[in-house]
Amino acid sequence: MIENFNIKNICCIGAGYVGGPTMAVIAKHCDHIQVNVVDINKERISLWNDKDLNKLPIYEPGLKEIIKECRNRNLHFSTNVDDEISKADMIFISVNTPTKEKGIGAGQASDLKWVEASARRISENAKGTTIVVEKSTLPVKTAETIKTILESSKKYSKNNLKKEINNFYVLSSPEFLAEGSAINDLENPDRVLIGGDDNDAIIALEKVYLNWVDKKKILRTNLWSSELSKLTANAFLAQRISSINSISSLCEETGADIEEVSKAIGMDKRIGSKFLNSGPGFGGSCFKKDILNLVYLCNFYGLEEVGSYWEKVLELNNWQQKRISKIIISKLFGNLFNKRLAILGFAFKADTNDTRESPAISICKDLLLEGAFLSIYDPKVEINQIQNDLFKNGDDNSRVCVASTIQESVEHADAIIILTEWEEFKKINWDKLVPLMRKPAWLFDTRGIINLQKLISLGINVWTVGKAN
Ligand code: NAD
Ligand code: UGA
Repeated sequence: MIENFNIKNICCIGAGYVGGPTMAVIAKHCDHIQVNVVDINKERISLWNDKDLNKLPIYEPGLKEIIKECRNRNLHFSTNVDDEISKADMIFISVNTPTKEKGIGAGQASDLKWVEASARRISENAKGTTIVVEKSTLPVKTAETIKTILESSKKYSKNNLKKEINNFYVLSSPEFLAEGSAINDLENPDRVLIGGDDNDAIIALEKVYLNWVDKKKILRTNLWSSELSKLTANAFLAQRISSINSISSLCEETGADIEEVSKAIGMDKRIGSKFLNSGPGFGGSCFKKDILNLVYLCNFYGLEEVGSYWEKVLELNNWQQKRISKIIISKLFGNLFNKRLAILGFAFKADTNDTRESPAISICKDLLLEGAFLSIYDPKVEINQIQNDLFKNGDDNSRVCVASTIQESVEHADAIIILTEWEEFKKINWDKLVPLMRKPAWLFDTRGIINLQKLISLGINVWTVGKAN
């Protein structure tokens, strides 16, 4: 029992895309709580502490302003993992949970080594009553593993001082923020999910959120429902994208228009209008890994039909990316050798510098294999990141250059390929840009953001996803 447990000190393990923004928003709304974000990555922490707010390791609209307001007030970033754990009443685990690369379940199951390492560190360093909150996305039943590790510190506490030992409570509170809109999602969540079996621990976390979230939006479930709801939400969202992308190919064949079809079906309240934009396939660090994890769980429990149902969502996504590469190659006379292609956008979506699983990576690799020369422009992705995503150490990288403006990228290009829906691409002055290209010139709009008629009037060939081309 932890009646009237008032949280005064929070520690978050993991200063990434979830830990950083989530703790920043908690700090903003809870100036009575000290929030310490810790990470083993020194470079990342020093960027979080950089005086120049343009150097924050994560680009998110609205993040800079909150960091400016709260950093060194009640929001701190450090590598003092053990110290901050020992001071905390509540610890969030926000570490990475990528797909396992080796061993049993490789290619499907989540790699939980960072979660386990965090749990062990908590178990060794926490003092007194501590609430541990799973923020990372985890397979169902992970809370059990975390509990077992935490409990072990009771049995093996160094001096066998049984009475000094800790009390741990484990909650699951998965994060639903999307990159690019993280701050708004955290400030105005559709819901906050808290799974657990101890009412007082749930109340303690609820109290933190009640500083800015309406009570009606805070949903209590059991631990396993909470863990499974996170995987299911991502699977459903990804499924919508694969569904609309599948229809985009049919539109291209039949003369139907994917924008019109999306609008027509989205006006049905039962379907809803969001997440119906067709594109080059979904990217990002989570959809693929979470569906793979779901498939693994289904197979583990002997539900192969359910697993293969969800696996199709991923197959369709890969197919959409390959389909787009093939269309580009075939429209450019089946030959890309020494052709210059301007790639506009490399991030997996607009308003983020994240490139994890970006469709741009697989499409650019396909084009490079055909001998193309790529001139890539993205307003937020660093040159090193693009090089790391496309090449291994020692590879010949001379066919890729990273441009610092749209114009530089497009000069002398045979084709422009729009891969991310950045706002600035919607405002391009095509009258100025098209004359800079080599003719016959092509524009491939994989995001459906360009005014088709305007481009055609400038004498450029245009292909747009989901339209008769
Ligand atoms: P990330 O890779 O950006 O950040 C994770 C951080 O944890 C890294 O900086 C890493 O150095 C640190 N870390 C790993 N082990 C550690 C340890 N033992 N001690 C201290 N620090 C450690 O990952 P992310 O994108 O923030 O995702 C974190 C989790 O949240 C994942 O489970 C992911 O599925 C989930 N999630 C992500 C998003 C998203 O938009 N990125 C949204 C919702 C949920
Ligand atoms: C997604 C979910 O939206 C979040 O709720 C979840 O918390 C997060 O995953 C996670 O668990 O990591 P995120 O991947 O950041 O968030 O971004 P999304 O907006 O979902 O976009 C994912 C991909 O789908 C992007 O490549 C995007 O371009 C693509 N997409 C999205 C489409 O192609 N069409 C759409 O209509 C929407």
